[in-house]
Amino acid sequence: MWSAHSLTQLALLPTAAFAAYSLREVGARNTLDWRIWLESNGKPVSFWHDVPLFPDEENHRVVNMVVEIPRWTDAKIELKRSEPLNPIFHDDKKKMPRFVESVWPHKSYPFLYGSLPQTWESPNFNHDFTNEPGDNDPMDVFDIGGDPGYVGQVKQVKILGGLALNDGGETDWKVLSIDVHDPLSAFVNSFEDIEKYRPGLLKAYYDWFTYYKVARGDGVLPIVGDAYQDVAFMQGTIEESHGFWHELVRGEVDSNEINYNQTSIKGLDSYISKRGTTAAFDIPRKSYILPPLPKPEQYDQWYYLDKDFNLIQLE
Ligand SMILES: *[C@@H]1O[C@H](CO)[C@@H](O)[C@H](O)[C@H]1NC(C)=O
Repeated sequence: MWSAHSLTQLALLPTAAFAAYSLREVGARNTLDWRIWLESNGKPVSFWHDVPLFPDEENHRVVNMVVEIPRWTDAKIELKRSEPLNPIFHDDKKKMPRFVESVWPHKSYPFLYGSLPQTWESPNFNHDFTNEPGDNDPMDVFDIGGDPGYVGQVKQVKILGGLALNDGGETDWKVLSIDVHDPLSAFVNSFEDIEKYRPGLLKAYYDWFTYYKVARGDGVLPIVGDAYQDVAFMQGTIEESHGFWHELVRGEVDSNEINYNQTSIKGLDSYISKRGTTAAFDIPRKSYILPPLPKPEQYDQWYYLDKDFNLIQLE
Protein backbone atom coordinates (compact mmCIF):
# COMPACT_ATOMS: atom_id res chain seq x y z
CA MET A 1 0.00 0.00 0.00
CA TRP A 2 1.39 3.44 -0.93
CA SER A 3 1.18 5.45 2.26
CA ALA A 4 3.45 8.35 3.21
CA HIS A 5 5.02 5.91 5.63
CA SER A 6 6.08 3.38 3.00
CA LEU A 7 7.51 6.16 0.80
CA THR A 8 9.72 7.23 3.70
CA GLN A 9 10.95 3.66 3.99
CA LEU A 10 11.76 3.57 0.28
CA ALA A 11 13.83 6.73 0.62
CA LEU A 12 15.92 4.96 3.23
CA LEU A 13 16.74 2.01 0.98
CA PRO A 14 20.08 3.21 -0.42
CA THR A 15 21.39 3.72 3.11
CA ALA A 16 20.28 0.24 4.09
CA ALA A 17 21.93 -1.29 1.00
CA PHE A 18 25.06 0.51 2.00
CA ALA A 19 25.97 -1.82 4.81
CA ALA A 20 26.29 -4.62 2.25
CA TYR A 21 29.23 -3.07 0.39
CA SER A 22 32.52 -4.96 0.38
CA LEU A 23 35.71 -4.92 -1.71
CA ARG A 24 37.28 -7.45 -4.06
CA GLU A 25 41.00 -6.72 -4.19
CA VAL A 26 43.35 -8.51 -6.57
CA GLY A 27 47.12 -8.19 -7.10
CA ALA A 28 49.93 -6.24 -5.46
CA ARG A 29 49.68 -2.56 -4.51
CA ASN A 30 52.06 -0.20 -6.29
CA THR A 31 51.72 -2.18 -9.53
CA LEU A 32 49.65 -1.39 -12.62
CA ASP A 33 47.82 -4.75 -12.53
CA TRP A 34 46.36 -4.20 -9.07
CA ARG A 35 42.56 -3.65 -8.93
CA ILE A 36 39.80 -3.19 -6.38
CA TRP A 37 36.18 -3.79 -7.37
CA LEU A 38 33.24 -2.69 -5.26
CA GLU A 39 30.80 -5.46 -4.36
CA SER A 40 27.19 -5.06 -3.36
CA ASN A 41 25.97 -8.19 -1.58
CA GLY A 42 29.05 -9.96 -2.94
CA LYS A 43 28.47 -9.01 -6.62
CA PRO A 44 30.72 -6.52 -8.45
CA VAL A 45 29.08 -3.15 -9.17
CA SER A 46 30.51 0.19 -10.29
CA PHE A 47 31.97 2.67 -7.78
CA TRP A 48 31.12 5.42 -10.24
CA HIS A 49 27.71 4.48 -11.61
CA ASP A 50 26.11 2.36 -8.85
CA VAL A 51 26.89 4.11 -5.56
CA PRO A 52 24.09 6.69 -5.17
CA LEU A 53 25.28 10.30 -5.12
CA PHE A 54 22.87 11.14 -2.29
CA PRO A 55 22.72 8.64 0.61
CA ASP A 56 19.45 10.31 1.60
CA GLU A 57 17.36 11.71 -1.28
CA GLU A 58 15.77 14.16 1.17
CA ASN A 59 19.07 15.83 2.08
CA HIS A 60 21.32 16.96 -0.77
CA ARG A 61 23.83 18.59 1.61
CA VAL A 62 25.26 15.13 2.28
CA VAL A 63 26.84 13.08 -0.51
CA ASN A 64 28.56 9.73 -0.82
CA MET A 65 32.31 9.88 -1.30
CA VAL A 66 34.41 7.08 -2.82
CA VAL A 67 37.85 7.23 -1.17
CA GLU A 68 40.68 6.78 -3.66
CA ILE A 69 43.63 8.25 -1.73
CA PRO A 70 43.64 7.90 2.08
CA ARG A 71 45.14 10.76 4.08
CA TRP A 72 48.98 10.73 4.37
CA THR A 73 49.44 8.42 1.40
CA ASP A 74 50.78 9.45 -1.98
CA ALA A 75 49.94 6.69 -4.50
CA LYS A 76 47.84 8.26 -7.28
CA ILE A 77 44.91 5.88 -7.13
CA GLU A 78 41.65 6.43 -9.00
CA LEU A 79 38.72 4.86 -10.84
CA LYS A 80 39.50 3.28 -14.19
CA ARG A 81 37.26 4.99 -16.75
CA SER A 82 37.67 2.52 -19.55
CA GLU A 83 37.09 -0.79 -17.73
CA PRO A 84 33.69 -2.33 -16.99
CA LEU A 85 32.47 -1.32 -13.52
CA ASN A 86 35.35 1.15 -13.21
CA PRO A 87 37.53 -0.62 -10.61
CA ILE A 88 40.13 1.28 -8.61
CA PHE A 89 43.65 1.10 -10.09
CA HIS A 90 47.05 2.73 -9.70
CA ASP A 91 47.35 5.53 -12.26
CA ASP A 92 50.43 5.39 -14.45
CA LYS A 93 52.92 7.90 -15.77
CA LYS A 94 55.34 6.72 -18.43
CA LYS A 95 54.19 3.11 -17.81
CA MET A 96 55.19 3.31 -14.11
CA PRO A 97 52.83 3.61 -11.10
CA ARG A 98 52.37 7.29 -10.35
CA PHE A 99 52.96 8.88 -6.93
CA VAL A 100 52.57 12.48 -5.87
CA GLU A 101 55.71 14.36 -4.83
CA SER A 102 55.70 15.78 -1.29
CA VAL A 103 56.03 19.57 -1.23
CA TRP A 104 57.22 21.09 2.06
CA PRO A 105 55.64 21.37 4.62
CA HIS A 106 53.21 18.66 3.46
CA LYS A 107 54.02 14.98 3.38
CA SER A 108 51.82 13.30 0.75
CA TYR A 109 48.06 14.03 0.61
CA PRO A 110 47.09 16.06 3.71
CA PHE A 111 43.40 15.02 3.47
CA LEU A 112 41.30 12.08 2.27
CA TYR A 113 40.73 12.40 -1.42
CA GLY A 114 38.27 10.73 -3.74
CA SER A 115 35.32 11.21 -6.05
CA LEU A 116 31.58 11.80 -6.06
CA PRO A 117 29.72 8.86 -7.62
CA GLN A 118 27.11 9.56 -10.32
CA THR A 119 28.73 12.87 -11.34
CA TRP A 120 30.63 13.64 -14.53
CA GLU A 121 32.81 16.55 -15.55
CA SER A 122 31.75 16.26 -19.17
CA PRO A 123 34.47 17.17 -21.65
CA ASN A 124 31.88 17.72 -24.41
CA PHE A 125 31.47 21.49 -23.90
CA ASN A 126 32.83 24.47 -21.98
CA HIS A 127 31.36 24.70 -18.49
CA ASP A 128 29.81 27.84 -17.07
CA PHE A 129 32.00 29.62 -14.51
CA THR A 130 35.30 28.04 -15.64
CA ASN A 131 34.68 28.40 -19.38
CA GLU A 132 36.68 25.21 -19.93
CA PRO A 133 35.58 21.65 -20.77
CA GLY A 134 35.46 19.09 -17.95
CA ASP A 135 38.29 16.62 -17.28
CA ASN A 136 36.17 13.53 -18.14
CA ASP A 137 36.20 12.19 -14.55
CA PRO A 138 33.72 12.19 -11.69
CA MET A 139 33.94 15.33 -9.53
CA ASP A 140 36.79 15.19 -7.00
CA VAL A 141 36.13 15.65 -3.29
CA PHE A 142 38.33 16.00 -0.20
CA ASP A 143 37.37 15.31 3.40
CA ILE A 144 39.04 17.45 6.09
CA GLY A 145 37.99 15.18 9.00
CA GLY A 146 40.18 13.04 11.24
CA ASP A 147 39.42 9.64 9.70
CA PRO A 148 42.49 8.44 7.74
CA GLY A 149 40.20 6.38 5.48
CA TYR A 150 41.06 3.43 3.23
CA VAL A 151 41.07 2.80 -0.52
CA GLY A 152 37.60 1.89 -1.74
CA GLN A 153 35.81 3.21 1.36
CA VAL A 154 32.36 4.65 0.70
CA LYS A 155 31.53 7.32 3.29
CA GLN A 156 29.06 10.15 3.79
CA VAL A 157 30.39 13.70 3.77
CA LYS A 158 28.79 17.12 4.19
CA ILE A 159 29.49 19.72 1.50
CA LEU A 160 31.27 22.84 2.84
CA GLY A 161 32.41 24.55 -0.37
CA GLY A 162 34.75 23.94 -3.27
CA LEU A 163 37.59 25.05 -5.53
CA ALA A 164 37.44 25.31 -9.33
CA LEU A 165 40.86 24.19 -10.53
CA ASN A 166 41.93 24.82 -14.08
CA ASP A 167 44.17 21.83 -14.73
CA GLY A 168 45.79 22.26 -18.12
CA GLY A 169 42.70 23.85 -19.67
CA GLU A 170 40.23 21.43 -18.06
CA THR A 171 37.62 22.08 -15.39
CA ASP A 172 38.54 20.08 -12.30
CA TRP A 173 36.34 20.82 -9.28
CA LYS A 174 37.58 19.91 -5.78
CA VAL A 175 34.63 19.72 -3.40
CA LEU A 176 35.49 20.67 0.21
CA SER A 177 33.70 18.40 2.68
CA ILE A 178 33.73 16.80 6.12
CA ASP A 179 32.75 13.29 7.19
CA VAL A 180 29.30 13.53 8.82
CA HIS A 181 30.58 11.39 11.71
CA ASP A 182 33.57 13.63 12.46
CA PRO A 183 33.26 15.44 15.84
CA LEU A 184 33.91 18.77 14.05
CA SER A 185 31.04 18.25 11.60
CA ALA A 186 28.38 19.57 13.98
CA PHE A 187 30.26 22.90 14.26
CA VAL A 188 30.93 23.67 10.58
CA ASN A 189 28.31 24.29 7.92
CA SER A 190 30.32 26.26 5.40
CA PHE A 191 33.96 26.90 4.58
CA GLU A 192 33.80 30.18 6.53
CA ASP A 193 33.16 28.25 9.77
CA ILE A 194 36.40 26.26 9.51
CA GLU A 195 38.97 28.97 10.37
CA LYS A 196 37.84 29.20 14.00
CA TYR A 197 38.53 25.49 14.64
CA ARG A 198 41.32 24.80 12.16
CA PRO A 199 43.31 28.04 11.74
CA GLY A 200 45.25 28.10 8.47
CA LEU A 201 43.70 24.94 7.05
CA LEU A 202 41.77 26.60 4.22
CA LYS A 203 44.83 28.49 2.99
CA ALA A 204 47.11 25.46 3.34
CA TYR A 205 44.80 23.25 1.27
CA TYR A 206 44.14 26.00 -1.28
CA ASP A 207 47.89 26.38 -1.80
CA TRP A 208 48.43 22.60 -1.86
CA PHE A 209 46.09 22.24 -4.85
CA THR A 210 47.75 25.06 -6.72
CA TYR A 211 51.33 23.80 -6.33
CA TYR A 212 51.17 20.00 -5.91
CA LYS A 213 52.24 19.40 -9.51
CA VAL A 214 55.15 21.87 -9.54
CA ALA A 215 57.72 19.34 -8.27
CA ARG A 216 57.12 17.08 -11.27
CA GLY A 217 57.77 19.95 -13.66
CA ASP A 218 54.27 21.35 -14.22
CA GLY A 219 53.25 24.92 -13.45
CA VAL A 220 51.04 26.28 -10.70
CA LEU A 221 47.36 25.38 -11.30
CA PRO A 222 45.11 28.45 -11.36
CA ILE A 223 41.94 28.42 -9.25
CA VAL A 224 39.09 30.05 -11.14
CA GLY A 225 37.58 32.88 -9.08
CA ASP A 226 40.65 32.90 -6.78
CA ALA A 227 38.60 31.74 -3.79
CA TYR A 228 36.58 28.94 -2.22
CA GLN A 229 33.03 28.81 -3.60
CA ASP A 230 30.21 28.54 -1.07
CA VAL A 231 27.84 25.67 -0.28
CA ALA A 232 24.90 26.92 -2.36
CA PHE A 233 27.11 27.33 -5.41
CA MET A 234 28.69 23.90 -4.94
CA GLN A 235 25.33 22.20 -4.46
CA GLY A 236 24.24 23.68 -7.78
CA THR A 237 27.44 22.54 -9.48
CA ILE A 238 27.10 19.01 -8.09
CA GLU A 239 23.43 18.78 -9.22
CA GLU A 240 24.48 19.94 -12.67
CA SER A 241 27.27 17.37 -12.83
CA HIS A 242 24.80 14.67 -11.69
CA GLY A 243 22.66 15.68 -14.70
CA PHE A 244 25.62 15.31 -17.09
CA TRP A 245 26.18 11.83 -15.64
CA HIS A 246 22.51 10.93 -16.27
CA GLU A 247 22.97 11.85 -19.94
CA LEU A 248 26.07 9.62 -20.01
CA VAL A 249 24.44 6.46 -18.65
CA ARG A 250 21.34 7.01 -20.78
CA GLY A 251 23.66 6.87 -23.78
CA GLU A 252 22.61 10.34 -25.00
CA VAL A 253 26.05 11.91 -25.39
CA ASP A 254 29.58 11.11 -26.53
CA SER A 255 30.93 8.95 -23.70
CA ASN A 256 34.60 9.70 -24.43
CA GLU A 257 35.59 6.05 -23.86
CA ILE A 258 34.06 5.89 -20.40
CA ASN A 259 32.77 2.42 -19.70
CA TYR A 260 29.33 3.15 -18.24
CA ASN A 261 27.93 -0.31 -17.66
CA GLN A 262 25.77 0.00 -14.54
CA THR A 263 23.63 -2.31 -12.42
CA SER A 264 21.24 0.24 -10.87
CA ILE A 265 18.90 1.70 -13.50
CA LYS A 266 16.91 -0.91 -15.39
CA GLY A 267 15.58 -0.12 -18.83
CA LEU A 268 18.75 1.59 -20.10
CA ASP A 269 21.11 -0.03 -22.61
CA SER A 270 23.90 0.47 -20.06
CA TYR A 271 22.11 -1.80 -17.57
CA ILE A 272 23.43 -5.26 -16.68
CA SER A 273 22.14 -7.41 -13.84
CA LYS A 274 24.69 -7.51 -11.04
CA ARG A 275 24.15 -11.28 -10.72
CA GLY A 276 26.11 -11.68 -13.95
CA THR A 277 28.88 -9.11 -13.66
CA THR A 278 31.71 -11.45 -12.56
CA ALA A 279 31.18 -13.74 -15.55
CA ALA A 280 30.23 -11.07 -18.10
CA PHE A 281 33.31 -8.95 -17.44
CA ASP A 282 35.71 -11.76 -16.59
CA ILE A 283 36.43 -10.36 -13.11
CA PRO A 284 38.50 -12.54 -10.72
CA ARG A 285 36.01 -14.47 -8.60
CA LYS A 286 37.45 -13.47 -5.25
CA SER A 287 40.10 -11.36 -3.56
CA TYR A 288 43.70 -12.44 -4.05
CA ILE A 289 46.01 -9.94 -2.40
CA LEU A 290 49.77 -10.08 -3.03
CA PRO A 291 52.42 -8.24 -0.96
CA PRO A 292 52.86 -4.60 -2.09
CA LEU A 293 55.87 -3.59 -4.15
CA PRO A 294 58.13 -0.94 -2.57
CA LYS A 295 57.54 2.69 -3.51
CA PRO A 296 60.42 4.22 -5.54
CA GLU A 297 62.78 6.08 -3.17
CA GLN A 298 62.50 9.40 -4.99
CA TYR A 299 59.02 9.88 -3.46
CA ASP A 300 60.40 9.85 0.08
CA GLN A 301 62.10 13.21 -0.38
CA TRP A 302 60.69 16.67 0.21
CA TYR A 303 60.58 19.35 -2.48
CA TYR A 304 60.86 23.03 -1.56
CA LEU A 305 59.24 25.98 -3.34
CA ASP A 306 60.18 29.65 -3.17
CA LYS A 307 57.62 32.34 -2.37
CA ASP A 308 56.43 32.38 -5.99
CA PHE A 309 55.95 28.58 -5.91
CA ASN A 310 58.98 27.88 -8.09
CA LEU A 311 60.96 24.72 -7.36
CA ILE A 312 64.23 25.38 -5.51
CA GLN A 313 67.05 23.36 -7.03
CA LEU A 314 70.60 22.98 -5.71
CA GLU A 315 72.53 24.11 -8.73
C1 LIG B 1 30.16 -2.58 -21.24
O1 LIG B 1 31.41 -3.26 -21.21
C2 LIG B 1 31.78 -3.87 -22.43
C3 LIG B 1 33.04 -4.66 -22.18
O2 LIG B 1 34.11 -3.82 -21.81
C4 LIG B 1 31.95 -2.80 -23.51
O3 LIG B 1 32.25 -3.41 -24.75
C5 LIG B 1 30.66 -2.01 -23.64
O4 LIG B 1 30.87 -0.92 -24.52
C6 LIG B 1 30.27 -1.45 -22.27
N1 LIG B 1 29.00 -0.74 -22.35
C7 LIG B 1 28.84 0.49 -21.86
C8 LIG B 1 27.46 1.02 -21.93
O5 LIG B 1 29.75 1.14 -21.36
